[in-house]
Amino acid sequence: MVSAREFRGRDFLSLYDYSPEEINFMLDFAERLKDEQKKGITHHLLKGKTLGMIFKKSSTRTRVSFEVGMYQLGGFALFLSKDALQLARGETIEDTGKVFSRYLDGIMIRTFDQAEVEKLAEAADIPVINGLTDLFHPCQALTDIFTIREHKGKLKGIKLVYVGDGNNVANSLLMAGAKTGMNVVVCCPPGYEPHEEVLKKAVSAAELTGAEIQVLNDPATAMSGADVVYTDVWASMGQESEAQKRAEIFKPYQLNGELLKKAKDDCIVMHCLPAHRGEEITDEVIDGEQSVVFEQAENRLHVQKAVMALIMAD
Ligand code: CP
Ligand code: NVA
Repeated sequence: MVSAREFRGRDFLSLYDYSPEEINFMLDFAERLKDEQKKGITHHLLKGKTLGMIFKKSSTRTRVSFEVGMYQLGGFALFLSKDALQLARGETIEDTGKVFSRYLDGIMIRTFDQAEVEKLAEAADIPVINGLTDLFHPCQALTDIFTIREHKGKLKGIKLVYVGDGNNVANSLLMAGAKTGMNVVVCCPPGYEPHEEVLKKAVSAAELTGAEIQVLNDPATAMSGADVVYTDVWASMGQESEAQKRAEIFKPYQLNGELLKKAKDDCIVMHCLPAHRGEEITDEVIDGEQSVVFEQAENRLHVQKAVMALIMAD
């Protein structure tokens, strides 16, 4: 049996570090926090605690949902943009982590290199949360499976088809599916597959849960039987110079009305946002009846509150 105590003091760097039982525990806890928040019941589980949020990339949802989440839990969040920190002038991430451990109770970081997050976590004495790297976006994927569970009532046996770039979001969805028994198909142009090492780890984690993990190149084939269809931008943060080239390559992978028809009639449409409307997804689909994208965005708040409350509590 999983208990809240075993989360205390842990980092949240990738879903790979959590067992299927622990992931389910986090989802159940997030569900409770969401229900109660809606009824006006608040829990000051992090009263007097402070989260530092380091951002080396832009953010709308992550920044606001973490900041509001800390406030709702009775704590405080500090927005720390990279330019305002001595990190921009060469102070190491390790020294930053050691200093922050003297002031803060947790650190959330959004950056490029996953190794930087790992170095920070190693040096800091307080929990570190990965708020997105080029490799992973675990807060997003945990929220996504929470949203799918709300809509479909389960994860095991559900078929999620991610169409587009095999990026940080795709990598994390693979891991989330593998850990929960949800079947994940990543459908991408050749050469844009998910990270090889992550794929291997997902396949091995899936052996325990029975999840089927697949990488395909043909969108029409991939869509067949999909319960969930997911897409994300074709050029992620840091890949701006490739945007034009990618726009051509990814054209056949656009999630439009015609492609959506190939999935199950009751399939839901997801996107982590921000969306580039008219590129990876059409207005018709993102604003359509099957879209749950804004609920998905809302759920970042509830799910991250659960994560913070579990790892940052005394
Ligand atoms: N989905 C997501 O992480 O959004 P932001 O980049 O706005 O934080
Ligand atoms: N793949 C996107 C996700 C943004 C939330 C990026 O990294 O820019």
